[in-house]
This record gives sequence, structure tokens and C-alpha cells, in this order.
Amino acid sequence: MRLRYSLLKPGPIGMPGAQMNNEEINIESVLAEDRVFEPPPGCSETLGGAFIPSMEAYETAWRRSIEDPEGYWGEVANEFEWSTPFTEVLDWKCPDARWFVGGRTNITDNCVDRQVRDGHGDDVAIIWEGEPVEDGGPEIIKLTYRDLQRETARFGNVLKSLGVEKGDVVTIYMGMVPEVAIAMLACARIGAAHSVIFGGFSASAIVDRVNDADSKVILTCDGSWRRGSVVPLKDNVDEACRDLPGVQSVVTLRRCNNEITMHAPRDRDWHEMVSAADEECPCEPMDSEALLFLLYTSGSTGKPKGIVHTTGGYMVYTAHTARNTFNLRPDEEQVYWCTADVGWITGHSYIVYGCLPNRVPTVMYEGAPNFPAEDRFWDICERHAVTQFYTAPTAIRAFMKWGDEHVQRHDLSRLKVLGTVGEPINPEAWMWYHRTIGGERCPIVDTWWQTETGGHMITPHPAATPTVPGSCTLPAMGIDAAIVDENGEELPNGTGGLLVIRKPWPSMLRGIHGDRERYLETYWSRVEGMYTAGDGARRDERGYFWIMGRIDDVINVSGHRLGTMEVESALVAHDTVVEAAVVDMPHEIKGSGIAAFVTLASGTVEDDALVEELRRHVGQEIGAIAKPDMIRFTHALPKTRSGKIMRRLLRDIAAGRDSNQDTTTLEDASIMDKLRGNEES
Ligand code: PRX
Repeated sequence: MRLRYSLLKPGPIGMPGAQMNNEEINIESVLAEDRVFEPPPGCSETLGGAFIPSMEAYETAWRRSIEDPEGYWGEVANEFEWSTPFTEVLDWKCPDARWFVGGRTNITDNCVDRQVRDGHGDDVAIIWEGEPVEDGGPEIIKLTYRDLQRETARFGNVLKSLGVEKGDVVTIYMGMVPEVAIAMLACARIGAAHSVIFGGFSASAIVDRVNDADSKVILTCDGSWRRGSVVPLKDNVDEACRDLPGVQSVVTLRRCNNEITMHAPRDRDWHEMVSAADEECPCEPMDSEALLFLLYTSGSTGKPKGIVHTTGGYMVYTAHTARNTFNLRPDEEQVYWCTADVGWITGHSYIVYGCLPNRVPTVMYEGAPNFPAEDRFWDICERHAVTQFYTAPTAIRAFMKWGDEHVQRHDLSRLKVLGTVGEPINPEAWMWYHRTIGGERCPIVDTWWQTETGGHMITPHPAATPTVPGSCTLPAMGIDAAIVDENGEELPNGTGGLLVIRKPWPSMLRGIHGDRERYLETYWSRVEGMYTAGDGARRDERGYFWIMGRIDDVINVSGHRLGTMEVESALVAHDTVVEAAVVDMPHEIKGSGIAAFVTLASGTVEDDALVEELRRHVGQEIGAIAKPDMIRFTHALPKTRSGKIMRRLLRDIAAGRDSNQDTTTLEDASIMDKLRGNEES
């Protein structure tokens, strides 16, 4: 079946200094993906009973959550344990929200201790699998709620012994080991906040973040395993600490046994400290609005911003959405696996905090998807009988490229729900996920959300929402999402505009650490009284949301608005193309032209005829205006270690500029060298 994408209406959104074009768009020219997938028959039963069993149920619950948010969220919040009950559900003075006002609670208590109190201490909370595979298979550790209670208590005492107090920010720079979750939960247990830095970041990234958070304590590992080699985490911390005189303690977990240098008295050994620590450490009752964590994320400009999340609202919202989106049901032999790294918001919300209260075992995998072979993920799914699986489109596209044979070797019949997050999923990847991984029987939940939103915002509900490849469908409970113009006027279905959220929700960011101005400017200045997500989007005729990508990824070609993702999707729809990244490039006549970087299926001949064929193909899929002005073949695209394509680097290449941009977060920096140095690469 063909995909038919329309051109967007002329008039840029979000191009610096540009005015939004409010003209309406002809509905017929709207995205016309017409494949609809109803929830498979019996879906609710296989999930042990759906929380939201039908569209009718969704609509009723959603309407109520919007009309009576305080009633709705008050009820949900009361499913959690509060040492002091809240007296008011919401205090909203735009843009400042306080949720569950006056309440005191502890998120670790709700994730861990409560399960033990309720008689589930021996249930498995975390299933961890290490990357290396020895003769006897990989190392697997299963932690019960009782184990987690003991270990978070001991580590809470370790932190206290280092002088960490309520409200302090502890920096965590570790690999995907069980101790990273223990460390996060231990911080929350004693009322300290954490700032997790993804293990793929460099020393200078650590310096910026530790300085901004004013952390005195860093938790790290000697190294972490990645595709069979060791990432020297402790060395990076040592390097960073040369510029961080305020850091008093570095606690290092031994994981890879690589050589490290311990600097007395700053450096302490994790195991030694934990062995000496007491197992009694009560959960501190925390104000609902107490800082839970900072998580740094890149903005469109400037240094990374520390997104502020607080305790009560985040706890309630992430657990509620994890439950609804994946239909997490304890006692149904479910095993949930989110492949993200805990260094990102997806790992915070949907490996740790949102999952544990739902008492479904959550899998943590340490390493790469293609180590020792390209079937590692499917091997894990099979061996651990994974029922809910959550990954990113970039990974899905890699699996497609590696070939179906890696999947077919494994029994994936236990899978029930598939999730995707992080970027728009192109319909081809969606269909492959649906067919090859889901065996055409698993609903796909395409979850749109952000570091700032804390939890899922727009997503299907697996037993209720008919899905359409490429659309994240409809808002989650309590989410008043809309597409508006710069004046805040809601645009008709089919018209591209700014994606905004018009009402507060419990896990919304409370600010940018130490930068009130930037908070106001980034999220609240563009449209009066509404949270601006920074994404362009539109709704189709059935009201489904389609994310067009970051606003700055929209290209204005001869006054026509084009989503880079649309062109990419068109390219990927061609048989020879595995992955494509499209950026704008200066164009003498059109203003902006389109540059496409394309990875081809192995064995494809890269020649001028193929360039012409792809241009023709894009013209056919979208319209002549979308034909790339430049197509460059490359064996791989420059991506961050979290899998995001670094388009700003491609823009420099496309523009023929010398790039002095930071490439330290790239998964494979040599790709840039090849693209710069070799026209034909
Ligand atoms: O552009 C949207 C895209 O990722 C951005 C948020 O990135 P980050 O804060 O790193 O969080 C990623 C994980 C939640 C959004 O502004 N994005 C995220 N999910 C989707 C998406 N774009 C399209 N579809 C999605 N499902």
C-alpha cells in the first residue's frame, strides 16, 4: 500500500523570526495514511483484563479527567500511600503547578516498601541481564522487592554517611547495572534528589551538569560494557573532577574490573561502603512538591537545562500512565521490558518509578542490541518471556536493516503489547514492528512525550484505541493537548501548528533548575497560558495527533512547509533505503533546500541513477517540491548514543560549513569524518 503524505501549507512554523501562517489547509491534502488497526480480538483478556477496555471507556474516562481533573487525580493519588494526606489536589497559578498540596509521601516507599508490607516482598521487581555472554550464558540477577528494600536502605545509609542530606543533589554516572536503580531509589528514600547523567556523555558534559546541580557526591562505576568493550566511566569522572573542586566524594562500583585510579580521600569503594552499612533506613516523608530529580536535556540553544521534577505528581502520573499504556497487571505473568537507558527520562519513568508501583517485573539490560549478535533483544524477550516491550524507532529501523532472520530464530509468542518512543515512527518501521515482532497480534503504543512532561502525553491505549501507523493517536488521561497557532487559536484538523498542552498535569516539569527566565521563555512565552512542547503537529480527520518533529526541524522550501520526517518517511518507503535523515540547506532560489543523507540496504549500487530514482520517488510520494536537492549516501547516520540523529551536524555538512560543533555525544564519530572528507562515502 502506498503512503500519501501531503505538503504542508506554505508558511513556516518556528523558523527563527518567522510568522506562523494561520491560513487553513485543504483537508484533502492532509496526511492520508489509511491503514487502521483495531485492537486485536481478545486483547483485553490476554492482558488479564484491560484497564481501558474500549474507546467508549477511554472517552468517558478522558472526558471526566478533563472536566474534573481534581476529582480524577485525587482518586488516582489516593491509590498511593501518603504519610500526611494532601488537602488540595491542585494549586495552579500558570505556569506554576503544585499537586497534592500539603501531602507528604515517599516514592521509594510506594515503589518498594509498600510491596513488602502488602505481602509481595518475594515478588521479582527487577530482572537484570548483563551484556557479556560467557559459556554458561549471560549473568542474570533477579531482585525482589525485599532485596530492593534492603539494598536501598543500605545505600541510603551510605549516602548519609557521606553527608548527603535532604534536598542535596547526588550525581549518578553509571552504566545499566542494578545498582543504578538502587542508587536512584536510595536517594529518594532519604529525601535527596538525583541527577543521572547518561553513561555515554563525556567528561565535559559531566562538569557542566555537576556544576549546575552543585553536587558534592558522584556515584559511578569503574566502567560499563558496551558492545564487548569497556566505557571508562571512572576515568571520565576523574577527568571531570579536575574542574570540579566542590566534589567531595566519588563512590565507585566495580563492574568491569578495568584499571582505575582511586584518589584518597575523595574516592570510596561501593562494595566496602555497602557492606559496612546498616539495613535500617526509614523512608523520609517528603512534601509532595519536594525535588525528586533533575534531568538534563538539550535545548535548541545554549547549555543543557536541568529539568525539575517533584515527588507526588511525578509518582502518581508515571505509575498511572505505565499501568494504562502497557496494561500492567501483577499476577498475570507479565514481564515488562523497556530498552531505554536510565540516563534518559524513559528510563527514569518507565524502567524505575512508573513500573515498580505496578508490581510487574521490569527487565534491565546492560548492553547493546547487537552483542554478541543481532538477535540479542529477541533472545532476551524469549528467555525472560517478555510480554510488554518498549523501544525506539531508531532501534526498530536497525533491526529491519539487520534482517528478519534474527527475529525468526526466536519465540516471541509471549509478547502482548509493543511500545515506541522518542521520535516519530515512520509507517514502514511501524508495519515491520507490527508484523515481524508483534506477529500482527500486538497493539503498538506510539507514546509521545518529553523529558519535560515526565510521562506519556499522547498515546494509544492497547485494548481501546484503533492505531494508525505513524500516529501517536489520542491524549492520555488528564491531557488537554491541542494544535494551535501563535495566538493560541485551535487549528482545524489537518492543519499543522504548535503542539500545546492547555491544562496542567501532575508530572509536568516544575522549572529549569536555576533558570526561571529560560523556563518562562522556552515553554510559556510563545502562546499565552499554554505549555508549548516545541513540536509541530497536526490532527487528522479522526482527531488523531501526528507529530511532525521539532519545530526547528521544519523546512520552508519556496514558502512551503515540509516536515523533515515526511521526506524521510518517503525515502524510507523506497525499497533500497534503510534509513534517511533530512535537513535544510541554504538554497539560492528556494530559501531552503532539502538535503538527504541516506543509508542503503546492503548490496545496493550507489550511483547517479539511484539519486534520480529517489528524487523521483519522493516527488511521487509527496510532491515535486519535496524532492531533495542533494542526496548523499552514507553507511551510517551520525547518532547520539541514545539513538537520536544529530541533524545539526548534517546541516553543517549540507551547507558545506566547517563544523566546530560538539561531537562528543556521537555513537560513532568516524561517520562525521567520512561525511566531511569523502563526497562519495
Ligand atoms: O520531538 C518529540 C520527540 O522527542 C522529543 C522529546 O525528547 P526527549 O525529551 O529526549 O524525550 C524522549 C522520550 C520521551 C519530543 O519533543 N518524541 C518523543 N516521542 C515521540 C516523539 N516524536 C514523535 N513520536 C513520539 N512518540
